[in-house]
This record gives sequence, C-alpha cells and structure tokens, in this order.
Amino acid sequence: MELKEGRYSIQGLDIIDLVSQYGTPLYIYDSAIIKRQLDRLNAAFKVKKLGIHYACKALNNINILRLINQWGAGLDTVSVQEIWTGLKAGFSPDKILYTPNCVGTDEIEMAINLGVQVNIDHIETLEYIGHHHPDTPLCIRINPHVMAGGNEKISVGHIDSKFGISIYQMPLVERLVKTLGLRINGIHMHTGSDILDPGVFTLAADILFDIARKFPDLEFIDFGSGLKVPYKDDDVCTDVEELGAILSDKFNQFCKDYGRDLSLYFEPGKFLVSECGFFVVKTNVIKQTPSTVFAGVDSGMNHLIRPMFYGSYHHIFNLSSPAGKPRVYNIVGYICETDTFATNRVVNEIHPGDLLCFKNAGAYCFSMSSNYNSRFRPCEVLIHEGKHYLIRQRETIDDLLKNQVELAL
Ligand code: LLP
Repeated sequence: MELKEGRYSIQGLDIIDLVSQYGTPLYIYDSAIIKRQLDRLNAAFKVKKLGIHYACKALNNINILRLINQWGAGLDTVSVQEIWTGLKAGFSPDKILYTPNCVGTDEIEMAINLGVQVNIDHIETLEYIGHHHPDTPLCIRINPHVMAGGNEKISVGHIDSKFGISIYQMPLVERLVKTLGLRINGIHMHTGSDILDPGVFTLAADILFDIARKFPDLEFIDFGSGLKVPYKDDDVCTDVEELGAILSDKFNQFCKDYGRDLSLYFEPGKFLVSECGFFVVKTNVIKQTPSTVFAGVDSGMNHLIRPMFYGSYHHIFNLSSPAGKPRVYNIVGYICETDTFATNRVVNEIHPGDLLCFKNAGAYCFSMSSNYNSRFRPCEVLIHEGKHYLIRQRETIDDLLKNQVELAL
C-alpha cells in the first residue's frame, strides 16, 4: 500500500474509491504481495526439488487458490472440503497434501479416493489404512515435542499437543510399517505458527532426518510452516533467505547420505498471504467514558477474531486522515461482547465516518469469520495486475436464513 498526497492506494488503485464502490467492512487482497512472497520462498531454497504447498486454511477464496496454482505451488489442506475447493480451483490431486487431525477414517478414505497425498497423525489410523489400503503411499506427521509458536493456542508440536505421532512411538510405527508392508513416502512436522526462534527449523531438521533414515521409500520431507511475518514495523520475522541457505545445505547433505534426491516441502499460510490483506472498516462512534476514548467500528470479532482469540496485534491506521494529530484509542467492534481490536492505540484523530484499515488481514481473518450476532460477513476484493475484482459478495439476509428450516408452528 502506498501513501501519496494524502491518499492510500494499492497497485495504483485508490482505496477510498474502492470503498465508495464496495462499501465497508471490506477485505482487500493485493495479489502482487502473494506472488512476491512465493518468489522469495522459491528463491531461498537451493535444493533440487522444492515443493511449496499453500496452507489454504489461511485464506480460502477460490480465486486466490487459482492464482497460487497458476504460479506453480501446491496446496496444503486439512479437510475434505478444502480438498474439493482445491480441486475446483484447478490443483491436480498430486499437488494436494491432506493433513487432517482427529478426523474419522471415512474422511481419510475419501481423500485417498480423490488421489491426494495423505498425511497420518494417529497410529490407529495408520494401522487401519494399512489394513484397508495397503497400496496407498502415506506420509507420517511426527510430534517432535518441541515448544514453538507465537502463543499457546498456535503451538502444536509440544508433548501436550493433540497433533502428530510422538517421536517416542516411532518403534511402533516401524513395526506396523514392516508388518503391514506399508510404503511411507513422506515425513512431516509442523510445530506451530508465528515461530519466533528460527533455530526451531534447524532443530526440526535434525529430528526429521534421524527419523527419515528409518524409512527407505521416502519421496519428500515436509517441514510444515510457522514462518513468521512482521505485524509491527520492528517485529521479529523469519529471515527465509538465511533459513533457506542453512536448511538447503543440511537437506542436500542428508540426500547425499540417504542416496537419493528427495523433495523438500514447506506449507506456508501466513508467509504467503498475511501481508496481502487489508481490512477496511468505518467508524460508527467515538465514545468517551471516564477512562477511555473508544472508536467503535462497523465490524467486530465476527469478522476478525485474531486480537480477541490470541491477543494478536494488527496495525490499524486512519485511511481518511493520514495527517491528523495522533490520539490514544481503544478500537472496538459492534458485537455484544467485549470485542476489542486494540487497546491504547495511537491513531491519527478519528471522527465518526472515518475509514480505518487493518494490516496483515490476509491470513486467518476472513477464513475465521462468522455470522455471530446475525451480522453479514464482509465482501472480498482482489487487486490483480492493476485491476480490482469482487471475489466474494457481501452476504444478505437470505444467506443467513437459507439453511434454516422454518416450521409451520
Ligand atoms: N501446516 C499445518 C499442518 C498447519 O496446521 C498450519 C497452520 C500450517 C501449515 C500453516 O501455518 P502458517 O504458515 O500459517 O503459520 N489461526 C492462527 C494460526 C493457526 C495455524 C493453524 N495451522 C492465527 O491466526 O494465528
């Protein structure tokens, strides 16, 4: 986003003009940022075979998926619904990974029938699939018991986590694989999101390589994700170029020892799409209480829940008044809950009607939205090659009621 003569724009398109056309609340995505991030990742790893699979739970609009497919990446999915969306977006099944957690074997069998790469994170499931689908190559998700991730809710590789098969259970996995004649073609690990310490990836690599040596049929090793992007100007973020250099060396050495070139996989969500998203809301009220000046906007935890759910920081600025004097606000939503977006936040003076913009609104924002308080979800607009496109309509009352079954009571 660019600021020139008091007006903000993306790819040359004026944001306030877009808001006049589409209204608020409004999600806007800049495709050039997704492409930039994908190019950075592709350039960072110097290995023979690299597979970037976009974790589409972060932002699942089919048009975004189509672009990512056109740009050559694969897809990381966690539900059969994400697989269906990915197939509809044009991904071929062999470019789709499926890493479910706590789903039934019926859904896993659906994924097998759709021809995608299944990643198993539960021993009993491995045994079941081994008996019923002995010819299906499988990936195994390891829980390395490493504490990583920006907060407790998004740390998933530690000993108390529900994800993955414990590294201490590898002897049982090996026994099942040998006895049932399974083909394990991949080893996977994902320890969390917003990983602050890049050393986690190199530690993970050593753990994965040790395990990988036990499986002779591997085609890939998947390092999951957790690549951290900046949310604040001075934020810690993963230096992917440095990570790429270190990990590529280690990986190439491993492949030499293993005797074959495997593919190195990553499955980024935030890294690809967090920074592409801008969420624009309108200020409904400025409400002063004895302790606080609240700016109340036409959105809430129903549209962007990360601050309330994880205490996440999103930079918020006044689109309507880039030169206004700075003042301190609590920025809150219109939901009948305490849905605080930001506390003690310095923003250029806000007046009712002013447009506020949230940064980092690409990942886990729209995709985690809901209709709580019977509010409509926002529309989504994509900016691509200098043009804007409506990629999701704003909901209507019919959308809210369409699956309700009205009884003649
Ligand atoms: N692979 C697996 C198996 C995952 O579970 C996830 C995210 C990813 C890849 C992508 O991770 P990323 O690159 O986005 O860090 N809603 C939370 C984040 C939850 C992440 C869930 N799994 C948030 O808004 O911070």
